[in-house]
Amino acid sequence: MTLIKKVLVAGASGYLGRYAVKEFKERGYQVRALVRDPEKIKTHGAHGEPAIHDIIDEIVTGDVTAPESITGICKEIDIVFSALGLTAPHSEHTSNDVDYLGNKRILDQAVSENVSRFIYVSVFNQDKMADIPSIKAHELFVAALKQSGISWAVIRPNGYFSDMGRFFTMAQSGHIFMIGEGEKKINPVHGADLAKVCVDAVEGECREIPVGGPDIYTFKETMEMAFNACGKTAWITPLPFWLAEGGLMVTGLFNRNLADLFSFALEALKFDHVAPAYGTRHLKDFFAELAGVTH
Ligand SMILES: NC(=O)c1ccc[n+]([C@@H]2O[C@H](COP(=O)([O-])OP(=O)(O)OC[C@H]3O[C@@H](n4cnc5c(N)ncnc54)[C@H](OP(=O)(O)O)[C@@H]3O)[C@@H](O)[C@H]2O)c1
Repeated sequence: MTLIKKVLVAGASGYLGRYAVKEFKERGYQVRALVRDPEKIKTHGAHGEPAIHDIIDEIVTGDVTAPESITGICKEIDIVFSALGLTAPHSEHTSNDVDYLGNKRILDQAVSENVSRFIYVSVFNQDKMADIPSIKAHELFVAALKQSGISWAVIRPNGYFSDMGRFFTMAQSGHIFMIGEGEKKINPVHGADLAKVCVDAVEGECREIPVGGPDIYTFKETMEMAFNACGKTAWITPLPFWLAEGGLMVTGLFNRNLADLFSFALEALKFDHVAPAYGTRHLKDFFAELAGVTH
């Protein structure tokens, strides 16, 4: 008789987290989901990610910056999967509070509950962006995970379709300011394709897994595709990096958290992000779906 394994999904309400919950359930796992707001997962997300409320076995409401709210989160858990992270500026909390210390609180409990495997989602090209606060926080956690004694896997995606969705939203407004010339390349990945890689990572040795999607585009091409999908003529104005960096410095004077997160987006536009290709879903179809939803 095979025992059903129980997985804790942290960040279950996010873009990747929802697809991960769905994938774990489809492969027969029992899922405990950590969310801040159970209402949020009753409906689908902004980029078509699924509503998952009704397929989860156990929902736990908690916030990793409030340690008492996540006490006992790893009890009777076999595997922890964390796509929990700070991806939008918060008035009080930094990347260090959430990406590092928040995930570390889950890890500490996983260690004391003898969890057998911990899968964490960090980022691709981390060495090229090592000084960016959000990358530092992710990598502090990766270092802690590697030292914890738990069997681990670190997923390193290069960019999600949801991120490219921001270009779609801007294209809908009719105009995009593009930082730099947009000539750097990326092969972003759909959340459902990435979730398969994440769940596959339950098995096997401790390893890092860089992940991209099936198609490589320049950033400018993704923007043009977004205009195309919403039936508008592409209107893209390039801005020099020095101007954006000046704006970043000024922003940092009155909103440090916003500047820290923006510094990641800015840095990421300076080089190629082409990672090993996985999956079958195409960005063009994703934009077409967004256009169908929003028209
Ligand atoms: N987007 C990309 O292109 C990309 C590329 C590479 C790596 N990554 C990394 O992949 C991870 C997942 O990305 P994503 O796009 O799926 O992010 P997302 O949609 O913003 O989801 C983040 C998840 O973390 C949760 N969370 C944030 N702060 C929390 C807190 N204090 N306590 C409990 N939960 C909290 C969010 O809960 P709420 O729903 O309540 O906010 C959400 O469930 C992140 O670490 C990100 O840095 C992203």
